[in-house]
Amino acid sequence: MGQAWGFGRYGGPEVQEFFDRPDPVPGRGEVLIRVEVAGVNPLDHLLRSGLVDGFDGGRPFPRVLGMEAAGTVLARGEDVNELEVGDAVFGFALTGGGTYAETTVLSAPHTARIPEGLSATVAATLPVAGTTAVDVLDQLSLPAGATVLVNGVGGGVGLAVARLAVGRELRVIGTGSTAKREHAEAIGVRFIDYTAEDVAAAARELVPDGFDGIVDLAGGTSLRTVAPLGQDPRNVIAVGDMSVADLGGCFVERRVDRENLERSARLALDGLLAPVITAVHPLADAPAALATVENGHTSGKVVIKVA
Ligand SMILES: NC(=O)c1ccc[n+]([C@@H]2O[C@H](COP(=O)([O-])OP(=O)(O)OC[C@H]3O[C@@H](n4cnc5c(N)ncnc54)[C@H](OP(=O)(O)O)[C@@H]3O)[C@@H](O)[C@H]2O)c1
Repeated sequence: MGQAWGFGRYGGPEVQEFFDRPDPVPGRGEVLIRVEVAGVNPLDHLLRSGLVDGFDGGRPFPRVLGMEAAGTVLARGEDVNELEVGDAVFGFALTGGGTYAETTVLSAPHTARIPEGLSATVAATLPVAGTTAVDVLDQLSLPAGATVLVNGVGGGVGLAVARLAVGRELRVIGTGSTAKREHAEAIGVRFIDYTAEDVAAAARELVPDGFDGIVDLAGGTSLRTVAPLGQDPRNVIAVGDMSVADLGGCFVERRVDRENLERSARLALDGLLAPVITAVHPLADAPAALATVENGHTSGKVVIKVA
């Protein structure tokens, strides 16, 4: 039995609650873990709101929040051969266990060992933001010296994309609100403050011939402002807003398998995928952790330290 934080029905933050749940029994292809750290992501509150389906699988309420975690394997289900009890691991709770909890089940093919030298806190941020950053830059496949605009650079995915892009020797321009400037500039981003500047004019001044690639994390009207700033609409990749296809751009192609997790972990060990962790909350403060992300203006990554 362990404490968990989730929601008793779809809705706003008022439907969230703490409750005790028995340790989930790992099914075929799952591992039960003791959660050490859970990452907090915008998808968590979208699922709670009932605005996104496809992950819940008609599971009964209450449901536990959270998609990603790092922790220690306590038990294995059938057909799990690569991970052992006692392994320190990180991965996705794709089968509905939720990770804002003392114990949960992760999907074994979407879980990897934490390599020596990498903290559980960093590892817990890699399944969602880390691998997304890797995927989006693989998709763009830009050569050194190319220009990339990261729209929404100050959040979890944005800073990860920017750090990785700088490591690939791309010239990175990023947009965000005033508070994001320091983190962005610290990793070598030329920052445009969308609350103080005309983004399109500032970006055109910096890159008059148009960007080689655009990565959008903000979506909506902001995506529509930046999309025409690229040389080729096909090199506009959106991570959250699927309407990018209407603009001739592409939605990110995700790879959430163990191989990509291991690759992200190696990049993190090499300092090339260094998540900026701005808040570490205990499980008792999970409401505050998710509220920070739900306000839409997060800085870097927010995590919940459970154990
Ligand atoms: N497809 C996938 O597999 C996948 C994976 C990860 C994330 N996502 C999605 O990708 C999006 C970003 O994720 P995230 O984790 O990075 O979210 P996040 O941490 O909340 O960051 C979003 C950032 O966008 C900034 N922003 C908001 N409006 C902006 C605007 N008009 N111009 C520039 N920046 C703006 C926010 O702060 P400021 O406004 O203060 O600058 C914030 O820093 C979300 O929609 C998420 O659901 C999808």
